Amino acid sequence: MNLVGAVALVTGSAKRVGRVIALHLASLGCHIVVHYRSSKAEAEGVREEIRGLGREATLIQADLARREEAERAAREALDWKGNLAVLVNSAATYGKAPLGEVSEADWDFSLEANLLGPFWLSQVIGPRMMESGSGKIVNIADISWLSPWTGRLPYCVSKGALVSLTMGLAKAYAPQVQVNAIGPGPVLFPPEYSEETRKAIVENTLVKREGTPMDVALAVEFFCRSDFVTGVFLPVEGGQLLKGS
Ligand SMILES: NC(=O)c1ccc[n+]([C@@H]2O[C@H](COP(=O)([O-])OP(=O)(O)OC[C@H]3O[C@@H](n4cnc5c(N)ncnc54)[C@H](OP(=O)(O)O)[C@@H]3O)[C@@H](O)[C@H]2O)c1
Repeated sequence: MNLVGAVALVTGSAKRVGRVIALHLASLGCHIVVHYRSSKAEAEGVREEIRGLGREATLIQADLARREEAERAAREALDWKGNLAVLVNSAATYGKAPLGEVSEADWDFSLEANLLGPFWLSQVIGPRMMESGSGKIVNIADISWLSPWTGRLPYCVSKGALVSLTMGLAKAYAPQVQVNAIGPGPVLFPPEYSEETRKAIVENTLVKREGTPMDVALAVEFFCRSDFVTGVFLPVEGGQLLKGS
């Protein structure tokens, strides 16, 4: 796909990994719908950065854990320029839920944002991409579903389900739309992680270092450019899966 002038919606793009994906797609020529839930000021900052790159940008606020808000966000994003070429589902929660104390609310917290949000968006946007003849959906999952952490089972399961959803939507929206998933390893630590935890995680990679959000953005670029790769899961994790096995 030619990305110059294409319109991309990147969820959770006010901050961190989503922000870098949005700015990278803008640097490649995309106009960007910056989605945020609560980080309004940061989202406005990203919109200005994109405009500084010479691309157009607009903001959409939505809690994607709520079906009606996700569907409204999808319609607003489609209406901005009449179509969307790219949807990147990066927004997510990172719920901690020690086994033995896991509640229904813990499951809802992970599944609604990480699985259902991308689904509600895709169900509105995917058919419109098919009508237009092309489109790319990229779901940002995780590698943890392959060897789930027992202290974050709802999170890990939500990401595994997101990979399964990716494969199902790749079949459903073929041949016009390609749907793929990325599994980041440690590309940007949560601010609350201790130095000790960070060191232990880095030690558990083959490359012996933390990755960067740009590593994820480059994988997004690949999936946006390729018209032949669909329904796959790409780990971007510095060899963490091999090191851990
Ligand atoms: N960082 C890593 O090393 C790493 C590793 C593995 C996988 N990943 C995955 O990569 C993606 C980006 O990671 P990240 O660390 O940048 O994520 P993050 O900082 O934990 O969250 C990104 C954004 O998600 C939005 N969000 C959360 N719940 C939402 C909801 N219900 N509705 C709408 N937006 C919601 C928040 O937006 P607001 O701030 O506007 O509320 C938040 O800024 C995520 O899918 C994550 O699971 C990241």
